[in-house]
Amino acid sequence: MSTLTKVLERNIKVIEKNADLTEGRFRLGHHLMPPVGWLNDPNGLCWYKGRYHVFFQYAPFDVEGGLKFWGHYTSEDLVDWKYEGTALYPDSPYDCHGVYSGSALAESEKLHLFFTGNVKIDGDYDYINEGRETSTLHVESEDGIHFGDKEEIISFEKYPEEFTCHIRDPKVWKENDRYLMVLGGRLKGDKGAVLVYESENLKEWKFKHIITTPEAFGYMWECPDYFGKKFLSVSPQGLKREEFRFQNIYQSGYFPVKEDGSVDERDFREWDMGFDFYAPQTFTDNSGRRLLIGWMGMPDAEEEYTNKTIDEGWQHCLTVPRELRVKAGKIFQYPAKELERLRKEKTILDDEKSIVEVRVEVNEGFDLLIEDIAVTDRSFQISMGGQMLFKYENEIAEIGFSEIAGAGRNKRKAKVSELNNIRILADTSAVELYLNDGEIVFSTRYYPDREDLQLKVKGGKFRGNLWNLRKMIFTK
Ligand code: FRU
Repeated sequence: MSTLTKVLERNIKVIEKNADLTEGRFRLGHHLMPPVGWLNDPNGLCWYKGRYHVFFQYAPFDVEGGLKFWGHYTSEDLVDWKYEGTALYPDSPYDCHGVYSGSALAESEKLHLFFTGNVKIDGDYDYINEGRETSTLHVESEDGIHFGDKEEIISFEKYPEEFTCHIRDPKVWKENDRYLMVLGGRLKGDKGAVLVYESENLKEWKFKHIITTPEAFGYMWECPDYFGKKFLSVSPQGLKREEFRFQNIYQSGYFPVKEDGSVDERDFREWDMGFDFYAPQTFTDNSGRRLLIGWMGMPDAEEEYTNKTIDEGWQHCLTVPRELRVKAGKIFQYPAKELERLRKEKTILDDEKSIVEVRVEVNEGFDLLIEDIAVTDRSFQISMGGQMLFKYENEIAEIGFSEIAGAGRNKRKAKVSELNNIRILADTSAVELYLNDGEIVFSTRYYPDREDLQLKVKGGKFRGNLWNLRKMIFTK
């Protein structure tokens, strides 16, 4: 370990320890968050030697972002987690301005991580067309905790000519007896695209082709993922905002890939309709299910909405792990079954009355499941003490926040032809709503200003169950 790495490691440990002494009231009970400072994309998601590994973009020194490292959590069951510390440091000439996003490939013996090294040359550059070097890097591990030397596997100098300097976020997988990689990119002329590479040995990579839409669908595609039969997930930047689509500054969603390998922007479907969701990644575990975790945050949104956790010295979290299922070409997302183990006492909500009210503790977190909904009024509503309101009216689902709870977040909408069920996973300062078994999801941070909330469901017949949740255990 170099002197630089040692100094960084020691200093991070000190600030993480100090942060532990001043835990804030918005710290989360069932969402992964940074020990201190800033978190963004989930990275290197995998199941390896009996444990789930969740790495994440981590800026421990600055609650507003800045220099990126990889933080690391592990779990045996997706419920309780261990913080393993910082896995990757910006300590080499290839990544001295940030260890950017990437993925993991778990083979029987070795765990491989692939990521982007970010280098910004000093000078008067725009850092889009010049001044930035983003090589693709690789490290290996035999225990999933300690990683070997960084190795440059695709030099920034070797990327295809038609791209700007914005190429990053390798996602690697194995198909038959070869390895494939997708990288996100920005073509000259401001068009988002994905680069596809192929390798036989994980060391030498050959550029194959690009995937993009016929017309520009945003100027940049970040954090690509390619999986199943067959989907391409990307986080495009530069789409025009609309009333029911693309409501945030940036988006993320997926295209079904056609037989000939092409994608069409008309088929693009957003992963999540809430305020705080970006840069998701998927992986399969030992049971063969495909899980997704997203960043529950939004880059460059600070002019519109903020996070009250900044005052507590930390910002952002990840979504809970979601299991993916494909139905008629559409991907449904639902909290991994294991999360039900967090449930404590159950309250049955009586739907004989037209309004059901029950008090919930914000600090506990809760899991609310409303099923077999038959809407009887013009509007079916779930209010969380006036801090958050879910409404379903005229085939439109909407979430809205009070000024204080939303911290700038107002409303987000989605078209849904019918509402059969809704599940709300509410944490101290994060809420995820799953409609129709995960056909539509809204993920949002929120900041209730009271310790308990009056939960009110009205406007229809339904079966309702409410559970208080225990907090997941974080060991260090
Ligand atoms: C997405 C992203 C990635 C990049 C990383 C840097 O949020 O911009 O494209 O690798 O964050 O933190």
